[in-house]
Amino acid sequence: MTRFAKILGAAPEIPANLRLTGLRGVGKSVLLKELEAIARDANWSVARVQLEPRHNNESELRDLITSLAGVAQRRMSRTRALKGKVTHVVAASRELLQVTIEDVTFSLAGGTDSEAELAETLLQTVKAALETGHAGFALLLDEAQAIRDDKDRGGEHPLSMLVATVNALQEAGLPIALVLCGLPTLRANLQKARTYSERMFKAENIAELTGNPGPARDAFVVPLEGTGVTADDDLIARVLDEVEGYPFFIQLWGAELWEAAKDVGRAHFDITMLDAIEGQIYERLDEEFYVGRIEALTPSEQDLLLLSEECPYPPLRTADLRARSDKSQGNINVLMGRLTEQGVLYRIQNGQYGYTAPKFAEYLARRKASMQQ
Ligand SMILES: Nc1ncnc2c1ncn2[C@@H]1O[C@H](COP(=O)(O)OP(=O)(O)O)[C@@H](O)[C@H]1O
Ligand SMILES: [Mg+2]
Repeated sequence: MTRFAKILGAAPEIPANLRLTGLRGVGKSVLLKELEAIARDANWSVARVQLEPRHNNESELRDLITSLAGVAQRRMSRTRALKGKVTHVVAASRELLQVTIEDVTFSLAGGTDSEAELAETLLQTVKAALETGHAGFALLLDEAQAIRDDKDRGGEHPLSMLVATVNALQEAGLPIALVLCGLPTLRANLQKARTYSERMFKAENIAELTGNPGPARDAFVVPLEGTGVTADDDLIARVLDEVEGYPFFIQLWGAELWEAAKDVGRAHFDITMLDAIEGQIYERLDEEFYVGRIEALTPSEQDLLLLSEECPYPPLRTADLRARSDKSQGNINVLMGRLTEQGVLYRIQNGQYGYTAPKFAEYLARRKASMQQ
């Protein structure tokens, strides 16, 4: 995170782009909010938004960014109205204010109309930021795996549109920062977009927390400090073993133990308490974290997922599915493609996939067991 401040500090000479990827529940969105705060502290104008599947085409994505840019610009002019005229637009910014849309579209040579339109919007926003004494404009997009290019040339290329446009502004020397945050699929999506797009980004993989002692233990015990509630060491060890370092899980286990202790008027977490409520913790975990992802799928997608639980993991290989299924290879490939598009799986390489949610195979096993009852 201190790295992000440095990255911003080095712009525009070095393009300030960051790609954050990780499984669900590892804390990407929390981190993105912190990056927003860092950027604001560094005097950047910031827009942060969570992308949705409907943004996966050029005009929807452009409309979204245009409206975000509009909000950012109104905020900047409000600040200016309140603080009075900015007198400290630095010399470097004055020079940058001379950059024209032709300078930007020059590096978009052969670009599409969507790119030119988006470039115009972003150019105005960066200029508004500079005019109001900001260091630049930062665009922070969460769930960015939701936008990806069509393979076919005549199709939609929202990701390329975004990346090419930001790159063009940066080539023209403008301080614009792009942070893309999302599931591991994002990396492959970028690789398939413009040839340079992977190289444009500093990459950070957000992994699960580790350590007892260490960050994983801290995530569990630090919230207890000062509350008068304590926890046994063997209980902590068992929780950490169970949650495998995923912040969302650590929080859930902590919250459920907290509730249970309160209910019985105790100020201490121990193993017997966990034994008593663990079944309920899993029910809540399944309900809050997993069920929504699977129930939105078609029956044949669900069937294939349930079948995947019998396969060795990681990774999930289509060959192993093929060996266990009466579906054709082609059919399995189509279903795997749809499961990837919907963010349930991510593609590691040809014929190999991973689940985007941690401990998903274990959830599938629980789901199967409850269906057979
Ligand atoms: N470093 C951390 N320590 C403790 N809890 C965290 C940490 N990072 C995230 N969390 C919690 O874990 C949950 C999942 O975080 P979130 O950022 O939504 O994950 P993601 O966006 O990667 O799916 C949230 O409830 C959040 O408060
Ligand atoms: Mg998130």
